[in-house]
Amino acid sequence: MAREFSFTQADYERVATHLYRIAGIHLGDTRKEMVYSRLSREVRRLRLGSVGAYLDHLDKAGQHEWTRFTNVLTTNLTSFFREQHHFGILAEKVLPHDGRPARIWSCGCASGEEPYSIAMVCDETLDGAQGAFSILATDVNTTMLQEAEAGVFDKERVENVSPERLRRYFFDGSGAFAGKVKVKPVIRQQIDFRMLNLMHPDWGKVAAEQFDAIFCRNVMIYFDKDTQYQILKRFVPLFKQPHGLLFAGHSEAFFNAKDLFTPMGATTYKVTRGAV
Ligand SMILES: C[S@@+](CC[C@H](N)C(=O)[O-])C[C@H]1O[C@@H](n2cnc3c(N)ncnc32)[C@H](O)[C@@H]1O
Repeated sequence: MAREFSFTQADYERVATHLYRIAGIHLGDTRKEMVYSRLSREVRRLRLGSVGAYLDHLDKAGQHEWTRFTNVLTTNLTSFFREQHHFGILAEKVLPHDGRPARIWSCGCASGEEPYSIAMVCDETLDGAQGAFSILATDVNTTMLQEAEAGVFDKERVENVSPERLRRYFFDGSGAFAGKVKVKPVIRQQIDFRMLNLMHPDWGKVAAEQFDAIFCRNVMIYFDKDTQYQILKRFVPLFKQPHGLLFAGHSEAFFNAKDLFTPMGATTYKVTRGAV
């Protein structure tokens, strides 16, 4: 099918170079149609004639356009209780370990389903005790963070949430919100949503924190091995010991980083002895 805007291989390579530099995302050779379909909306919005013209515009544009570029090109697929077994491990192996309040980081939280799932499990496991846990939820995509902060979801998106949890943690929408649910403050207020690009050399206050668990699931899958290793190295000092656990996505294996993290089964990892 003829394209509305011209989009050359050189344009694709320019996009790939920018996205790798900004977010560490390695596009490979197979995402050309996805890139075109997402960027053509930006070309239309700016009333430009081609993807090349859009990229020239971007070179001269301010931060706002670069943020949009990153937002439209990241893949944000997620769901409540995705890779369910991880939530059992969190409840059984991580949360009961330490008398201190639990602190958990969901980096690459997309539209919020992951940190809200973590919050429900923490609230249940720690009996809803005030101040018993807090969650930091970060992403590079600011559009996703706005959605996550709002905590409003279509009912189809909470199909994996049990009726008991739905009653306990969500308001049922009515009127303009019919067909939707909204997260209740009891879990919403335990989550701090923030923009954080894992590729940025300065993670600010996060770099001085200590976490019981870091959920970095289905984020590094888009990074090359060297970038993954560099990020994993920065995670090492951030775990409470000895129970701190890193949760990765089902298709992510960090075998090239055994000096940093030791696999504990079910794509969970502990800091390798001597790595800190
Ligand atoms: C596929 S989603 C995974 C969401 C969730 N962790 C899960 O497993 O369901 C990947 C998320 O990683 C984010 N991401 C990609 N590159 C990133 C970077 N450099 N820094 C922070 N987040 C990034 C994307 O914006 C996206 O929301």
